[in-house]
Amino acid sequence: MSLRLGDTAPNFKATTTAGDIDFYEYLGDSWGILFSHPADYTPVCTTELGRTAQLKDEFAKRDVKVLAVSVDALDRHQGWVRDINETQNTTVDFPIIADETREVAGLYGMIHPNASETFTVRSLFVIGPDKKVKLTLTYPASTGRNFNEVLRVVDSLQLTAKHSVATPADWNPGEKVIVALSVPTEQAQEKFPKGVEIVKPYLRYTEI
Ligand code: BEZ
Repeated sequence: MSLRLGDTAPNFKATTTAGDIDFYEYLGDSWGILFSHPADYTPVCTTELGRTAQLKDEFAKRDVKVLAVSVDALDRHQGWVRDINETQNTTVDFPIIADETREVAGLYGMIHPNASETFTVRSLFVIGPDKKVKLTLTYPASTGRNFNEVLRVVDSLQLTAKHSVATPADWNPGEKVIVALSVPTEQAQEKFPKGVEIVKPYLRYTEI
């Protein structure tokens, strides 16, 4: 059974480019992003890990710890990191898990046999400080992920974890949000001092 939203993200111990880790200890009380790529020394994966490294400050601002994983060996990861740094004009300093035994891939359902028997697909999990799965993404090998979108979702997840709101289609930080259905309209004005715009009883906007 694959992992679903709200499930507990499984813990594991792993060998990584940043040394041996216990996943939960590595995350501590932070948010986490665990994402798999199909294989080292491949073009799309090179751009994805490079982009992730470039966004280091953005992840840090949001208290998100990032880890990549593939079934490649540690020495391949180490050699490939030099290529990523050189070609993507960055420095990869988040851990890349060497999952040769496929333990992590198995726990997180990252191998989709009808896509590839051997490689992990492009899976991505956002994990909350409570170790619950907050978001899952699955992309095929041929399509690189949009890491601006990953940051945008993290912003939405963190906002909606703190306030009784939801974020509308194409929302970006700073824009109007939707008052959660759980908040009765008579309480909404008090809860959201910047005001509530009622379009329909079920569609109410506010600002945070
Ligand atoms: C890539 O990263 O470009 C890639 C990896 C595995 C299969 C196909 C493409």
